[in-house]
Amino acid sequence: MTGTFPNISLSTERLVLRPLDEDDVPALAEMMNDEQVGAWTHVPQPFTEERARSWITDHAPAERAAGHGIDFAVTEFLTQRLVGIVQLSKTNWHVRSTELSYIIAPWARGEGYASEAAVAVAQWLFGDQKFERIELRTAADNTASQQVAQKIGCISEGVLRNACIAHVRAEDGTWTDARTDFIVWSLLPEDLDGVSEELADTGGFTSFSNWN
Ligand SMILES: CC(C)(COP(=O)(O)OP(=O)(O)OC[C@H]1O[C@@H](n2cnc3c(N)ncnc32)[C@H](O)[C@@H]1OP(=O)(O)O)[C@@H](O)C(=O)NCCC(=O)NCCS
Repeated sequence: MTGTFPNISLSTERLVLRPLDEDDVPALAEMMNDEQVGAWTHVPQPFTEERARSWITDHAPAERAAGHGIDFAVTEFLTQRLVGIVQLSKTNWHVRSTELSYIIAPWARGEGYASEAAVAVAQWLFGDQKFERIELRTAADNTASQQVAQKIGCISEGVLRNACIAHVRAEDGTWTDARTDFIVWSLLPEDLDGVSEELADTGGFTSFSNWN
C-alpha cells in the first residue's frame, strides 16, 4: 500500500510551511553551509546553489511523487524568510508511520521554530493524514535535536548502537565520518496531548492546498 502526501501548506501563528520553491535556492544553500548541519546530517558540505536547486526541482518532488515523504520549507509568516526545513521520509503507508527531521538556519535558532514547525506537521499527520507514528532519530551527542524531540512530546525508545554516521571537521576544513549511536524517539497521536498549552497554541495549524 503506497500513498503520496498532498502538495500542501500549513500555517501556524508565526510560520508558514509550504513546498520548496526555486526562489528558495540562495537561502537554502546559505543555511545548509553550517557546522551543525555538516556535523549531524547527510547534507553534503559545501552545499552549493546547484545542489540546492537540484534538491528543490528534482529530489524533493521525486521523493513526494514516489510516496517516500515530503519536504516543507519553513518560512516566517511576517517576513516570508526561509528559516528551515522539515522533512518526512521513509514513510510506511501500511503502518502509517514516517520519519521526521528538521533543520533550522543558524540565525533563526533558539526561537522555538523547530518545535513549532514539527508540532504543526505532527498535528496534520495525525489529524488529516491519519498517521499513527512519527519516528525521530537523533545522533547521541546532538543535544539541540534531542531537546526539540523532548519538547514536542516524543518518547525516547532506545539506542541504535553504532547506527549513526556523524561528521567531524578537521583543522584543514575537511569533514570525516565519525560513528556514533542513534537515539530513537517516537511520537504517537496521544503524546501530543502532553505538549504544553503554549506550544500547542503556536503549533496549531491550518492547512491549505496549493493551487499551482
Ligand atoms: C536542532 C535544531 C533544528 C533546533 O532548532 P531550534 O529552532 O533552535 O529549536 P527550538 O528553538 O525549537 O528549541 C527547542 C528546545 O531545544 C532547546 N535547544 C535548542 N538548541 C539547543 C542547544 N544547542 N543546546 C541545548 N538546548 C537547545 C531550546 O532551548 C528549546 O527548549 P526550551 O524551549 O525549553 O528552551 C537546530 O539546532 C539545527 O538546525 N541543528 C542542525 C541540524 C540538526 O541537527 N538537525 C537535526 C537532525 S536529527
